[in-house]
Amino acid sequence: MPSPEGRFTTDRLVLRPFEESDTQRYLDLLNDVRVQPTAWAKYIVPLGPKWLEKLKPMINEPLFLAAIETKDTGEWIGVTDLGTMNPKNRDVYFGIMLVPEHWNKGYGTEVTKWMVDHAFHWLAMHRVSLEVYETNETAIDLYKRVGFVEEGRRRKSNWIDGRWTDVISMGILEDEWRARKLQS
Ligand SMILES: CC(C)(COP(=O)(O)OP(=O)(O)OC[C@H]1O[C@@H](n2cnc3c(N)ncnc32)[C@H](O)[C@@H]1OP(=O)(O)O)[C@@H](O)C(=O)NCCC(=O)NCCS
Repeated sequence: MPSPEGRFTTDRLVLRPFEESDTQRYLDLLNDVRVQPTAWAKYIVPLGPKWLEKLKPMINEPLFLAAIETKDTGEWIGVTDLGTMNPKNRDVYFGIMLVPEHWNKGYGTEVTKWMVDHAFHWLAMHRVSLEVYETNETAIDLYKRVGFVEEGRRRKSNWIDGRWTDVISMGILEDEWRARKLQS
């Protein structure tokens, strides 16, 4: 929910509007060899300046796109988005990408929970959907923790690190989200 100052905040983080100047950081993050194979099903290669130009128009596509900063130091730690997939069915795709130096601090869980809450409570979505690669165990555990369930697999559809791996579809429905809220 928006804070009194009109900013979107979680306990420790600020989610502010993504700006064109964030695009270079986004590309740097995507170029990090620890990140690229977890978030990118295309060729694992250095993404040069042409990608900067390709990314810029994408800024306006998602329903919700935010740069994530820490509240205390204002450090840029990543990006998150809800990209409209199907307005008629109120089904939105969730995405998150954090700077590796900030992994395992609970930020991913904090942001994902907030984005899911926001999608249902403020944006009136019916579903939140995502795709995750089978090798990305941290992300799969995180999504399950927040209430996503596995809905299917595209078997052996993504070549990662010398082998074919599954792409897993996950989702959470508004009723499931509401039931979890009542429990907590
Ligand atoms: C996937 C990703 C978003 C996870 O973010 P994260 O901030 O590391 O996630 P969390 O810190 O909430 O959870 C990770 C682990 O840290 C643990 N953790 C949670 N809070 C913690 C804290 N305060 N201190 C230390 N560890 C903590 C969690 O229990 C979790 O453990 P597990 O992996 O054994 O389940 C991040 O790794 C990332 O951006 N990866 C690259 C892009 C990517 O994969 N995006 C998703 C594509 S589908």
